Formats: sequence, C-alpha cells, structure tokens
Amino acid sequence: MKILFKSIQHLSYLGCLLVSLSLTFSLSAQNTTEHWRPAVHFSPKKNWTNDPNGLIYFKGYYHVFFQHNPKGNEWGNMSWGHARSKDLLHWEELPIAIPHGEEFIFSGCVVWDKNHVSGLGEPNKDLLVAIYTADYPNKKQEQHLAYSNDEGLTWKKYGHNPILDIQLLNFRDPNIIWHEASKQYVMSVAKPLERSVQFYGSKNLLAWDLLSEFSNQGELEMIWECPSLVELPIEGRENESKWVLFNSSQGVQKGFVGMQYFVGEFNGKTFINENSSDTKLFVDFGKDFYAAIPFYNTQEKEVLWLAWALSWQYAKEQPTFPWKGQMSSVRKLSLVDSQEGLRLKQVFQPDFSQWEPTFQAKDISISKPKILNGMKMLQGKSYVIDVEVEETNADRWGFRWQSVDNPQEYTLVAFDENKKQWFIDRSHSGKVLSPGFFKLDSAPWVEGRPRQMRVWVDHSMIELLAQDGTVAISSLRFPVSSKENLSIFSEKGKLDLKQITIWEVK
Ligand code: FRU
Repeated sequence: MKILFKSIQHLSYLGCLLVSLSLTFSLSAQNTTEHWRPAVHFSPKKNWTNDPNGLIYFKGYYHVFFQHNPKGNEWGNMSWGHARSKDLLHWEELPIAIPHGEEFIFSGCVVWDKNHVSGLGEPNKDLLVAIYTADYPNKKQEQHLAYSNDEGLTWKKYGHNPILDIQLLNFRDPNIIWHEASKQYVMSVAKPLERSVQFYGSKNLLAWDLLSEFSNQGELEMIWECPSLVELPIEGRENESKWVLFNSSQGVQKGFVGMQYFVGEFNGKTFINENSSDTKLFVDFGKDFYAAIPFYNTQEKEVLWLAWALSWQYAKEQPTFPWKGQMSSVRKLSLVDSQEGLRLKQVFQPDFSQWEPTFQAKDISISKPKILNGMKMLQGKSYVIDVEVEETNADRWGFRWQSVDNPQEYTLVAFDENKKQWFIDRSHSGKVLSPGFFKLDSAPWVEGRPRQMRVWVDHSMIELLAQDGTVAISSLRFPVSSKENLSIFSEKGKLDLKQITIWEVK
C-alpha cells in the first residue's frame, strides 16, 4: 500500500513537472515584449483589444471599456474589457464587463441614466446604461442594452433586446449624447457599407425614433464605422460652438485608414455640414489612431476622447505579446479658425503646459545635429517634448531617434520646409509590419498657426500634435535595438528655437 502511494506521489510529481515544463516551453516559444508596452497609455495585461467603448467619467474615475478577446491575442470572442483611471495616466484593469454570448459584443457607449428614465435596475442606486452592437456573425447586427448599478463593474443584459433593429447585416457602433436643446438622447449609428450615419432620438433610452440620415459626403472610399456627434467650443470666440460629426473609415487601403470629421449644425433632428459635400477633413494623419469616441459626462463638460492606437491594415502583425492593441493618449477637443475654415484642435491630457518641466532651454540656435544628452535618463521612459521655432532657413528640421548599435535603425519626427509637411518616418524604426506600415505618415502645414510641435513618446507609441494641436500624426514603431540617442537636427540651414521643453510622464 505504502509503495503504491509512493509511486502515485512520484507519478503526480512527474506529471506536474511535465505540465510546468510544457508551460515554460509554450511561454518562452513566444517571448514577452514588455519593452514595447506603453507605460501610461492603456493596454490590457494580456490578449487582444481594438476600439475603446463606453468612455465615461463617473464618480472620480475615467472609465474605458474596450473591444476585447478574453481568450486570445487575436480578434475574436468580442466582449467588453474594462479599465479605469483617476488621472488618465495610471490605469487599473478590472474584470470583463460584458462577456459575449451567442452574440459578439461590438462597439458602443455608456451613458449615466441620472433620472432613471429607463426604469431599469434599482431605483435608489446610480444607473449606467451601455448601448452597443450585438453582432450575430454573418447574420445580423442590432443594438442592445445592458445596465449596471455598481459603477460599471457588473452588467445585466436587458431582457427585451434588441432596442433597435433594422434587419441589416452591417449596422453598428451606437454613440449617444444628451441633447439639451431638444431634451432627448440622440444616438449616432453607422450603416457602414452605405457610408451613412443615422440619428435616432429617445426620451427613455429604450425606444428610439429615426430622426435623419447623413451620407454621401466627405471621404467615401472606405466603409464608415464608429460615428459620434459632439458640440465643440470655438477657441477665441466667446460662447460660440459648432457641432462636429466624426466617423472612422476602414477598408483596402488606397489613401489611408483613419478618421474624418464634418463641421456644422445639429438642430435636434438633422446634421447640416457647413462645408461643401466633397470637403475631406481628417483627424489624424498617422495610421494608428482609429475608432476614437468622446467621454460622456466629463467634469467641466469638456470634450475628451481617445482612440485605438493601431490600424486594421496590420493589427494582426503587431509583434507584442501577451497583449495586442493599445489606446492613444487622451486629448481635449475644440475648434479653431484657420484660413481654410474651422479646424479640429487636440491637446494632450493631462495638459503638460501646467506641469513643472524636467528640462527647459530657451533661445537656442542649431545648425548641426545636436544630441540631447539629458535624454539618456529618459531612455525607456515616457516623455513629452515641446519645441517652438523662432526662425529657420533649413530644408528639414526635427527629432531623430538613432539606435546606438545599429546605424540603419532610426525614427524621424520632423517638418519638411520645402514640401510644407509634418511627418513621422518609421521606415527604419525596427520591425516593419507590412507594406502599409512602411509608408511615411505626413500631414499638411496649417496656414496661420505656429511652427511648433509637441511629441509624446511612450515606448512603442509616438504621437505628434503640431501647430498648437491642429496637426496630428500618431504612429507605432517597434525598435529592435534597446539603446538610442535623441538628437535635434536641422538640414542645410539654421534653426532658431524659442524654447525646447521636456516633461517626463510618470
Ligand atoms: C471598428 C470595428 C467596429 C466594430 C468593432 C468590432 O474597429 O470594426 O465597427 O464594432 O470594430 O470589434
């Protein structure tokens, strides 16, 4: 008996050893890539994410729900993940919020049902309502509702779903605002293949009436998804605002994959584009800014948003493990006047201008590349650099991240004075994920705005907001070498800087 027991013990020990050996083997078969993980931008601890969903500020926390595969590092089993932050820099990942069933839980929004107009949940507790697309693969997409009485931690799927169904295979991504003037909730939702956004109105979040449809304008080459409608203040014009309609476009790349916007009026029923129907306005000229939606219920009613910082073109090939997909910075939105009309302005949040700089220099002149030695201590950290030009006669100027051990590996974030273009060049940044990844990301100069750029570097993420936030380029890069120098350069001419300021983002 004793012998039998011993040998069973022995066998189970051997079994454990084998299991743990095979686990170690499968983990090391795919090495973790934590050095590419952003420090202060949100990414799930493990597994896949795409669009941000249900962004809401509630009781001291910014909540981010997100398209998530709880079981794997590729798209599938779409459910809502959940994270929250008090300061938009430290993120706490919480348990899966809305798991998939027979239906996939696609993108959507969360609103605070302050007056319990839906009549759902417990009347004495705060009520959050999530409205999202239920996707029945290859069959149908319809809009569903779930509600939470515990600040978004757990959700009950509504018993009478769908709340909106127009019998379409593609009909998705509801985003809801409270429209004070017409005293109703207004939902924007996309009919992607038709390049159209429908608006619906509701008093109780359950019954929705079609208000109007906006289509056939702007960029039409690719399908439309993830619409949102917001009212934005116009900077420098007191108490003036305009309505802005956003959507994300996706498809086989001819131009590029990204987000566009329309500026105009919304009267509680119809959105009227104030530009000609063929005007194309783009949010971000990088390839890694997609499906952004605004936060609901912000403190000062300011419009804040964030995006999925990746592109459908090469998302599958993002070489990160055990997660894939990450969020952009949070940005505050407004409109500003330009010679071509009103343009979107985006400012990183928190607003670093209010922070004590880690480094600052004023009135410097550069004629040959200058390595910023002080940057060595920021190696592998997250930081923001702001630079403003007094005057220049250079052909190109900007920043160069140069690998110390491989002369062929570098990244440029710069301005081309001849082409009048801002650009991020990641064609020699390390891993090139696909032919589309290789292309230079460039954005046109905006007349009348300062020659200034602010760059946020957070491991694999580079976000450029130039000309006081009216130019945006967001691009990922995956350096192979672990040590790099940062220099400021000026080609074929002199660069006089008003200031250069660096903030470490902890
Ligand atoms: C946009 C999108 C949405 C959809 C979700 C599915 O990136 O295609 O239209 O709801 O992703 O994950």
